[in-house]
Amino acid sequence: MKTRSVNTRPYLDQKPGTAGLRRKVRIFQQPRYLENFLQCIFDCGGQFAGETLIAGGDGRFHNQEALQTLIRVSAGNGVGRLIVGRNGLLSTPAASHLIRQRAAAGGFLLTASHNPGGPDGDFGVKFNTASGGQAPESLTRSIYDATQSIERYLEADLAPVDLGRLGETDAAGMIVEVIDPVIDYANLMETLFDFDRIEALFAGGFSARYDAMHAVTGPYAAEILNRRLGAPADWLLNGQPLPDFGGGHPDPNPVDAADLVALINGPVPVDFAAASDGDGDRNMILGPGLVVSPGDSLAILAANARQIPGFEEGISGVARSMPTSRAIDEVARRLGVPCFETPTGWRYFCNLLDDGRIDLCGEESFGTSSNHVREKDGLWAVLFWLNLIAVRGQSVNEIVEDHWREFGRNAFNREDFFIPDAELGSQLMAELENSVPELDGRPVDGLRITAADVFAYHDPVDGSVSAQQGVRIFFDDGSRIVYRLSGTGTTGATLRIYLERRVTETDLLIRPAVELNAPLSTIARKLSRIRELTGIEQPAAVV
Ligand code: G1P
Ligand code: ZN
Repeated sequence: MKTRSVNTRPYLDQKPGTAGLRRKVRIFQQPRYLENFLQCIFDCGGQFAGETLIAGGDGRFHNQEALQTLIRVSAGNGVGRLIVGRNGLLSTPAASHLIRQRAAAGGFLLTASHNPGGPDGDFGVKFNTASGGQAPESLTRSIYDATQSIERYLEADLAPVDLGRLGETDAAGMIVEVIDPVIDYANLMETLFDFDRIEALFAGGFSARYDAMHAVTGPYAAEILNRRLGAPADWLLNGQPLPDFGGGHPDPNPVDAADLVALINGPVPVDFAAASDGDGDRNMILGPGLVVSPGDSLAILAANARQIPGFEEGISGVARSMPTSRAIDEVARRLGVPCFETPTGWRYFCNLLDDGRIDLCGEESFGTSSNHVREKDGLWAVLFWLNLIAVRGQSVNEIVEDHWREFGRNAFNREDFFIPDAELGSQLMAELENSVPELDGRPVDGLRITAADVFAYHDPVDGSVSAQQGVRIFFDDGSRIVYRLSGTGTTGATLRIYLERRVTETDLLIRPAVELNAPLSTIARKLSRIRELTGIEQPAAVV
């Protein structure tokens, strides 16, 4: 074993965001960059000597090299056992499950989620703690501080370990255990859902497609949907994980998964379609002519939870990220359970899940999950919907429309403005925050602002406070506009504007959200002064 004590620059340029450290592949390829970051995790994350850790990634470009680096640094730091998914693959929810199942001290998830892969794409590293959840803000802050002064890293002198073969290898005193990445996760799903009902649905003339977007969920879907539930092979699309995701952008949204949307709206009758992102934690649910809004999906899952074996006893509470539509609030109110509003980023749900305060949670960015892991979970959401369709005997569209009729609809969509100059983006946000005190009571385009604030979160479990999590503006007709800057981009700044209108009129219920929110969009642009400040006229994306 060798301890390197060399000039360890480059140091980290920017703080890691809510989803770990995400940078261009070329930045990660710099000598010692990843070693430094990993060492800082070892120095700050706890006592890992002799312990078990989990490791795996979404299969993107640089995954294999990064895993070999991780093996050397882990062995150098005296880790007892490193459990790695075969070929370096582990979906994010499967990794979270393994950490918990194997009582590991933590896990490394090599992923940049839905960001493009390949030599010119992005790479990322997330560290999850023993709970299976993402490192808390206090830990990521101390890891970042450590990166600014690190002077040495520890690594074992090791030949690359073969990650294609199941079994154990001794790596300088550390056991590298290569496991099947799918089995444990698939077994967990079988305990939560009624596989017999879903199998019967599949055998009974129902037709579905699942798009793995050439990312990590391909092997998971093949095992669960095809092998265990009997789905025909051609229901699984893009099932082979590829280092560049086949040149696509592995993000399950109507823009990046346009082919799937076209397919379900095309001539071949398909009842249900779904997709997941690069690391398998996001989900998109489609019915013919319908993209289920993630906020609606969360609300519908909560309202129907008791019909699923995993939730037969009901749920104790729910949570959504602040920008996510308030459809779930309405369900929670009727169920008589608490509904928590957290900042953007999955990790804020983890304390609530660990403390038993919530069982279901979700974000507008196509992320939904429950207490079965400490990450969002794409395939879990797909199986939940399939289970629901099977027990209710209704189509996706019928389930959604029934929900709207019963609870009302929170028509929701988001506009992303890409501002190449990151500084300008921060300035725009600062001006918006400063304008908040003057907004109260102000009339605008026929509506009146009833409240506005800069969202701050007080964690009820550990008492920590997260300030400046976005600007919220509420209107007298129940509408809401939210602004925040993205924390996951690797260049420039992205201003996200979230629009939400409360709709109860029957004739409006099925109109497209973008259409229903057009007046709010005009107001949102006006209040942010985006055109005056940046010259930008149009959003880069509307989802
Ligand atoms: C985005 C999503 C957020 C999600 C995160 C990681 O972050 O908005 O909900 O938790 O990706 O998947 P953002 O770029 O908005 O900071
Ligand atoms: Zn993801």
